[in-house]
Amino acid sequence: MAFHIIAGDITAVAADAIVNAANTSLLGGGGVDGAIHRAAGPELLAECRTLHGCATGQAKITAGYRLPAKHVIHTPGPIWRGGRSGEDAMLASCYRSCLRLAEENGCRTVAFPSVSTGVYRFPLDRAAEIAVREITVFLKTARVVREVTMVCFDGETKAAYESARKRARETAG
Ligand code: APR
Repeated sequence: MAFHIIAGDITAVAADAIVNAANTSLLGGGGVDGAIHRAAGPELLAECRTLHGCATGQAKITAGYRLPAKHVIHTPGPIWRGGRSGEDAMLASCYRSCLRLAEENGCRTVAFPSVSTGVYRFPLDRAAEIAVREITVFLKTARVVREVTMVCFDGETKAAYESARKRARETAG
C-alpha cells in the first residue's frame, strides 16, 4: 500500500483512475477540470452529460477516453465559506467517495489533485491534513486499490501535502 506525493500534471498520469476536482454540474470548468476535459476530448463531456450532475462530496466515474488514465472519477469539492458550513466534512467525503468508487471499479492505482484548494479557496494546509488522513485510513483496509498518488501542480501544494504526511507519521508513532 503506497501513498506518493508528486509534482506534475494529472492529465499525464497513467493511473487506473484520476480524480477530477469538478463542480456539481459535471459539465467542465477551469483549473484541473478544464485540463482533464481538454485532454480527454469531447467524449468525456458527452458521458458527463448522461450523469445529470453530482452532489458536493459525492463522486461519479466515467471512462478516460484520450487520457492515459482508464477512468476519471469526478468529485465536486466544497467551496470554502469560512469553515463553519461543514466544509471539512464535505472534503473528507470527496476523498472517501472517490476511493470507494475506485475500489468498486477495480482501480489499483488512483491519482488525486488537491481538491478544492484552487478556485474553491479551501485553505491548503487544512485540506492537505484532511486528504492525508482519509487516504491513510483508507489504505489500511483497501482490498483493490494498491497505490494512491497526490499530484501537486505547484511547489507550495507539494510542500503542504508532504508536511501533512510527515505530521501524520509523527502522530502515528
Ligand atoms: N494537474 C494537477 N493539478 C492541477 C492541474 C493539473 N493539470 N490544474 C490545476 N491543478 C490544481 C490547482 O493548482 C489546485 O491545486 O488542482 C487544484 C484544484 O484547483 P481547481 O482546479 O481550481 O479546483 P477547485 O479548487 O476544486 O475548484 C473547482 O473550479 O475549475 C473549476 O469546474 C471547476 O467549478 C469547479 C472549481
